Amino acid sequence: METIDIREQAERIEVIKGDITEMNVDAIVNAANKSLLGGGGVDGAIHRVAGPELLEETKTLGGAETGEAKLTKGYNLPAAYVIHTVGPVYQDGQHNEEELLRQCYDHSLETALANNIKTIAFPSISTGAYRYPVEEAAKIAFDSVLDALLQHDASELEKVYFVAFDDETYHYYQKLYDLYFA
Ligand code: APR
Repeated sequence: METIDIREQAERIEVIKGDITEMNVDAIVNAANKSLLGGGGVDGAIHRVAGPELLEETKTLGGAETGEAKLTKGYNLPAAYVIHTVGPVYQDGQHNEEELLRQCYDHSLETALANNIKTIAFPSISTGAYRYPVEEAAKIAFDSVLDALLQHDASELEKVYFVAFDDETYHYYQKLYDLYFA
């Protein structure tokens, strides 16, 4: 059994500070709500840039449960696709929030792999309006992505970006990156 060196994944993950709607990747992930009909935050930004055709397509999806991921085209976004996932609303950590947030990342990555999507950008799911503590959420995000990178080589999953919109979020994701790959 070869020893798997997590550090080899360092070049396949990147933490950046910016606006996910500007990412020129195969797919960006949207932190949506169960209706999938748009909202505020990153959901609002993605619908605004993608244009009205995105809403026309999401109307056909019949919503989504927390932890689920559904694929649409990207329309006017630079990204070819949007993977819409519904994060858990953080209550107190005793309502299966961790498992549900992990499912958002796992199911988004599964959707990417099933659709030959090789470069993907995630926002910090659930850490805005849904109030998930960023430090804990970042670890769940990193662990899910690392597991996927260890199971799928670069020919399947080339690069995963964590796109932080603010300094605090960037700090927590970058701190984890340094911890894992230092
Ligand atoms: N690019 C990247 N990240 C962004 C952007 C953007 N353009 N805009 C906001 N964010 C960040 C927020 O700063 C936060 O760190 O996305 C993270 C997630 O925050 P929200 O967008 O509020 O998402 P979430 O906490 O999952 O709440 C989802 O909010 O917008 C509504 O319709 C959405 O009801 C759903 C809920």
